[in-house]
Amino acid sequence: MKNYKVLFVCLGNICRSPAAEGVLKKMIEKQGLQDKITVDSAGTSGYHNGDLPDPRMRRHGARRGYKFDSLSRKFTCGDFYDFDIILAMDDNNYRDIMRLAPDLESEKKVRRMVDFSTRFGYDHIPDPYYSGADGFELALDLLEDACEGLLNKMTRSEL
Ligand code: 4NP
Repeated sequence: MKNYKVLFVCLGNICRSPAAEGVLKKMIEKQGLQDKITVDSAGTSGYHNGDLPDPRMRRHGARRGYKFDSLSRKFTCGDFYDFDIILAMDDNNYRDIMRLAPDLESEKKVRRMVDFSTRFGYDHIPDPYYSGADGFELALDLLEDACEGLLNKMTRSEL
């Protein structure tokens, strides 16, 4: 299979995208694909620069066996050169990322996370930040499903 560098992007980089990063990293480790796929995450806002993921997301993730411990950073134009696939959690993220794309080649790297869903029909990954426990569980359900779909495509070199 091809090598891939994957970047997950949400607004704050403390809930959805660091969770997606942790989920995909665990799947990659399980399949022994660490040499083939690298994963990172970023936020369009920079509001939480340097912060650990939201404690609620860390707690819900830990219950499923994940460790979410990446530090928040802002998405930059340079990320278009460092990554092959850039995944937006919702339409606002998608627009904010696309606005920074320097060329057509960069634009082609940007995809919506839900494009890789197989079991759910959501058109975006809802932001759990202002929600209760249900929102965090739903985000994790959707991210696990989409990460599985994404990884399947990568292992078949379909991306
Ligand atoms: P995320 O969630 O984009 O999934 O990390 C949010 C985190 C923080 C804020 C909004 C969304 N905020 O406004 O601080």
